Amino acid sequence: MIRASAYTFKILRFDRKKPEDRARFQTYRVRVIPGLTILGVLNRIRDEIDGTLSFRSSCRSAVCGSCAMVINGRIDLACRTQAASFGTDTIILEPLPNMEIIKDLVVDMTPFWTMYEKVRPWLDRPGPGPEKEMRQSPEDRALIDQFVNCILCACCYGACPVISRDPQYLGPAALAKLERFILDSRDERPVSALDEVNNEHGVWGCDTVLKCIEACPKGVRPTDAIIDLRKRLFVEKAKKLLGIGR
Ligand code: SF4
Ligand code: SF4
Ligand code: FES
Repeated sequence: MIRASAYTFKILRFDRKKPEDRARFQTYRVRVIPGLTILGVLNRIRDEIDGTLSFRSSCRSAVCGSCAMVINGRIDLACRTQAASFGTDTIILEPLPNMEIIKDLVVDMTPFWTMYEKVRPWLDRPGPGPEKEMRQSPEDRALIDQFVNCILCACCYGACPVISRDPQYLGPAALAKLERFILDSRDERPVSALDEVNNEHGVWGCDTVLKCIEACPKGVRPTDAIIDLRKRLFVEKAKKLLGIGR
């Protein structure tokens, strides 16, 4: 027989359409069986206890990136986090930091997408598109493996302390994406693309405190990308000083 235990879930509630009702925690009691995820708990609360609770989800498989939130102080995907994995029967759920709350656990991701678009996150090549697929060797593909795994969940963006003090900072996901395309053997963006991140809102804004790596559910290491972009900028500067040209 599967044993279920009663857990207490304290969930931050807020509706930006009703700012007069200040943010507050609402408590729900849910019976948890082994293996039940936080997303499973949220679905149960919404379906059986309180239909007004808002949260995002889609794939339930850590693929779509829509269910990121703060779970007992740790940023993660609700669909890959088991409720029984915390060693406590009280679990606090809060929305991702660094973005405004729309309602409950749903945040306005506009700043995240705005920064993401700034790095031109696509294969950048001059002229008309190719007539057939562009082949890539396994070795070249291996160079971008880590970054291709990004599911744009914004866990890293929510965890980054720089964004909390500088909303203009591009952030870990956008900078990791830039590195992904610079490393891509099919991308032909000019070296000058690096100029756009050569400032305190770009690669030099990072404190290298690795919170983004800690928060990423897919093993992407944005800090490594940022350090590599910095190295590339040093190389370009050295070339310029030596008159090697760009
Ligand atoms: S390493 Fe840089 S980008 Fe990552 S969380 Fe820290 S400050 Fe933000
Ligand atoms: S780098 Fe990781 S944490 Fe950041 S958006 Fe991509 S998958 Fe999410
Ligand atoms: S529901 Fe898709 S990542 Fe969690």
